[in-house]
Amino acid sequence: MPTALITLAAGQGSRMNSDLPKVLHKIGGATLLEHALASAEELDVDRRIVVAGHGADLVRAEAEDLGVSDVVVQEEQLGTGHAVLQARAALSDFTGDALVLYGDTPFIRPETLSKMAAARQTHTVVVLGFEAADPARYGRLITKGDYLERIVEFKDATDEERAVTLCNSGVISADAETLFSLLDGVGNDNAAGEYYLTDIVKIARDRGLSAGVVTCEEAETLGINTRAELANAEAVFQATKRVEALENGVTLLAPETVYFARDTYIGRDTVVEQNVVFGPEVTVESGAHIRAFSHLEGCHVSRGAIVGPYARLRPGAELSEDVRVGNFVEIKNATLAEGAKANHLTYVGDATIGARANLGAGTVTCNYDGVMKHHTDVGNDAFIGSSTMLVAPVKVGNRAMTASGSVITSDVPADALAIGRSKQINKEGLADKLFQKLQQIKAKKSGGKS
Ligand code: UD1
Ligand code: MG
Repeated sequence: MPTALITLAAGQGSRMNSDLPKVLHKIGGATLLEHALASAEELDVDRRIVVAGHGADLVRAEAEDLGVSDVVVQEEQLGTGHAVLQARAALSDFTGDALVLYGDTPFIRPETLSKMAAARQTHTVVVLGFEAADPARYGRLITKGDYLERIVEFKDATDEERAVTLCNSGVISADAETLFSLLDGVGNDNAAGEYYLTDIVKIARDRGLSAGVVTCEEAETLGINTRAELANAEAVFQATKRVEALENGVTLLAPETVYFARDTYIGRDTVVEQNVVFGPEVTVESGAHIRAFSHLEGCHVSRGAIVGPYARLRPGAELSEDVRVGNFVEIKNATLAEGAKANHLTYVGDATIGARANLGAGTVTCNYDGVMKHHTDVGNDAFIGSSTMLVAPVKVGNRAMTASGSVITSDVPADALAIGRSKQINKEGLADKLFQKLQQIKAKKSGGKS
């Protein structure tokens, strides 16, 4: 069934105490909005509508990055029912199911939403519910047999209704046309003076339509309202990713010190040592070794490569098989071909490094002239002497060498040795004379006191 996602993200999120709209805060390097949208990845999603309000321009920019088809603005936050109605015009030509999600609820599992889609075969309206350990202020699901009769908000509930522990997660699904038609019947005569989305259940039942509940674990329905909840959600997310990595055959020497992004992919039999951070868009193939205190983002590490300790791989770092990147080495937007090595204290930016090339300690690609970035090309089997400055744009040919301490400003042909440093002169006996002179000066200054 083609599905339209309607993701509610208009709320102010004032308890975050932030200039940033709540749904743009991140867990595992991805915004809450991205997590929410990803929870529908198993469905046949045809349209994605985000209802924005506070900070709508920022939300729109992120939504566009995520490929969302429409961002509609709810100028005044008059309630969840009113929020969903904002999507009506954008979906006027749409036929299929509408699924309402909250942008601040990142952990709903794709399997759960698939279960809801299946339940739509039986019920016109399907609500995602959960058994709450502490039902607090959640809306309560009032059921009768297999049917959901209505949802009552905490503020409007009687004591008897408040005793119900089956709660509303907020996720609701119905045929799109039916959903909007039910919403036409929703008023705001309630304790909050809001248009409640939840009222569509009773309206559906009154119209003789059926409604049902699909349940999930309470943990999935966790919503983020404060920085403390965000920090807690991050911890929950990291714990899940660590278990996932271990189950996928990755060795984590100290799992609790390794941090993952939402999209981190690590192949089987890779070893990850202590205190490693994976930012967004990292792929590590099987059998690689990521040593302690390394930081990786936007990079690809191939089989057999060894990274770190204390390495930094930045966006566009592409490490082929058996590459070695050692301590205090930073790689950005650069490809290192099979077996290339940069073992110590090196910066490689905007470069192509050939197979088996060796970059000595302290090699720097001088890629930025203050205005533009330039490329460095190092050939196969080249040997770059320690402390070579490669002033880009520049090319070093296959099997070429550079002398230590060279500043390479023009291309080096294949098989050549480039020496780009001033010639050394030795002055016989001059060191001894200089020491004596310096000692005399020191003695004069201290007035004979040693
Ligand atoms: C809602 C449900 C409640 C459920 C709870 C789960 C209603 C009436 N109540 O209550 O049954 O147990 O969520 O967390 O639906 N939003 C808008 N525009 C608005 C109002 C809200 O976009 O005008 C968005 C918010 O940004 C948020 C979501 O909708 O992402 C839920 O709104 P919130 O005010 O938190 O609803 P609750 O009172 O918690
Ligand atoms: Mg809420």
